[in-house]
Amino acid sequence: MRISKRTLGLGTETAFEVLAEVNRLMREGKDIISFCIGQPDFDTPKYIKNAAINAINEGKTGYTDSAGIMPAREAVAKYLSRTRRVEVKPEHVVIANGAKPFIAYAIACTTDYGIGDEVIYPNPGFPIYESQIIANGAVPVPLQLSEKKKFSFEIGELKSRISNRTKLLILNTPHNPTGGILEEEDLKEIAELAKRHDFWVYSDEIYCQIMHDGEFKSIASLPGMYERTIISDGASKSYAMTGWRAGYAANAALAPHFARWVTNTESCANHITQYALKEALDGPQEETRKMAESFKERRDLVVKLLNEIEGVSCLSPGGAFYVFPNVTRAVERLGIKDSEELRKLLLENGVAVLADVHFGKRNPGDNEQHIRLSYATSKEKITEGVARMKHAIETRQSKLA
Ligand SMILES: Cc1ncc(COP(=O)(O)O)c(C=O)c1O
Repeated sequence: MRISKRTLGLGTETAFEVLAEVNRLMREGKDIISFCIGQPDFDTPKYIKNAAINAINEGKTGYTDSAGIMPAREAVAKYLSRTRRVEVKPEHVVIANGAKPFIAYAIACTTDYGIGDEVIYPNPGFPIYESQIIANGAVPVPLQLSEKKKFSFEIGELKSRISNRTKLLILNTPHNPTGGILEEEDLKEIAELAKRHDFWVYSDEIYCQIMHDGEFKSIASLPGMYERTIISDGASKSYAMTGWRAGYAANAALAPHFARWVTNTESCANHITQYALKEALDGPQEETRKMAESFKERRDLVVKLLNEIEGVSCLSPGGAFYVFPNVTRAVERLGIKDSEELRKLLLENGVAVLADVHFGKRNPGDNEQHIRLSYATSKEKITEGVARMKHAIETRQSKLA
C-alpha cells in the first residue's frame, strides 16, 4: 500500500534516534555517558506532583475544553503578564500536550498549503520547525546563525530572507541547540521588520527560565508586538516536567483557532497535567530557581573543560542547557570527514553527543563543524564525559601527528 510523500518526507528529532541507539548499547553493557537528550535530570517538584495526585483523587479525569481549564489558563495569563510585561488575558491562552504541538498549529494558522507562503526559521535550530513547515505545505527559509554573534543572527541576514511571501518568523531564545540569546537591540530591529513587512512571529520561549547571564527578554514585550507574536512556553524544561506534556501558547487573535486545532488533534491537554501546570506556575518558584542555578554552574564547568581539549573551542552560552562547541580543528587534525564522524568516534569511546547536521542542513560554503552537548546531567558525569572526549580526540591526534 502507498504511503504519502508527505509522511515519507517527514523530518525527525535525531536526538530520539541517537537516544534509542545509546539505550541499546547500554542494554548490551556498554558504558556510555550521554549528553544527548534535552531534558532536566531533576525530579518534578513535590508540590506539583501533589497537585496532580489531588486532581486524580478529585475525579478531574474527563475531557476539558480544548483551550484548557480556566484555572490553568488564568495561571498562564498571570505568569506571562508578569514575566513578559504585557497584559495577557486568559482567553488569549491555549493549553496543549506540550509546547511542541503549537509549532504545527502556528504554521497551519498563518500559512496556506502549497501556494508559496514562506516561513523563516533559525538554522541550526530545533528540527521540528523545518519538518512542520514542509509538512504543512509552506516554504522553509533557513536563517543562518552566526557564531561571531554568539549564535544570534545578523539583522542583514534576516532582511535578505524577507519577501512579500513571508508569513511567519520563528524565533527561539534561549536557543536549542546553541544556548544563544537574542539581545534586546536585535529584538527591536526584528520587531520593526515584522511590523513593516506585516508577518507573524512565533517566539519559542521554552527555555526562558534558564537564563545564565542577564534577564530574559521577549519580543512580545516591545511596542505593537504582542498582537503579532505567538508566545510559546511550557513546563517541560523549567519545572522538570518533560513527560507530563504541559505547554501553552498565547495570542489574542489566534487562540480560538489554536483551540480548534486542538479539537481536531488532541481533543484537550491531559486534564490532570493541567492542574499540575496551574500549580507549577502559581506555586513557590524556589526549586525552579535552584535548578537554573545548578545549570549555570554546570555550564561554567562544561565550557571550561571543553576549552581544554586540543582543537575544540566553546563559547559560554547565555541560556538553556546546551553548548555547541566548534570542533572544526579537531575534525581536521583527526583526519575525519565531519562532525557526524566525530560523533560516531566519540560514541565508540563512551560519550554520546549530537552533531550540528541533526539541527539543519549545513549552509552552502559553511565548513565549520559543531557538536551539541546537553549538560543537564551531573557534574561528575560532565567531568568524566569530557575527559573521555579529551582522551579520544587527543590520543587519536597524537597518533596521526
Ligand atoms: C526549542 C524547543 N521548542 C519546543 C520544545 C518542545 O517542548 P515540549 O516538551 O513542551 O513539547 C523543545 C523540546 O526539546 C525545544 O527544544
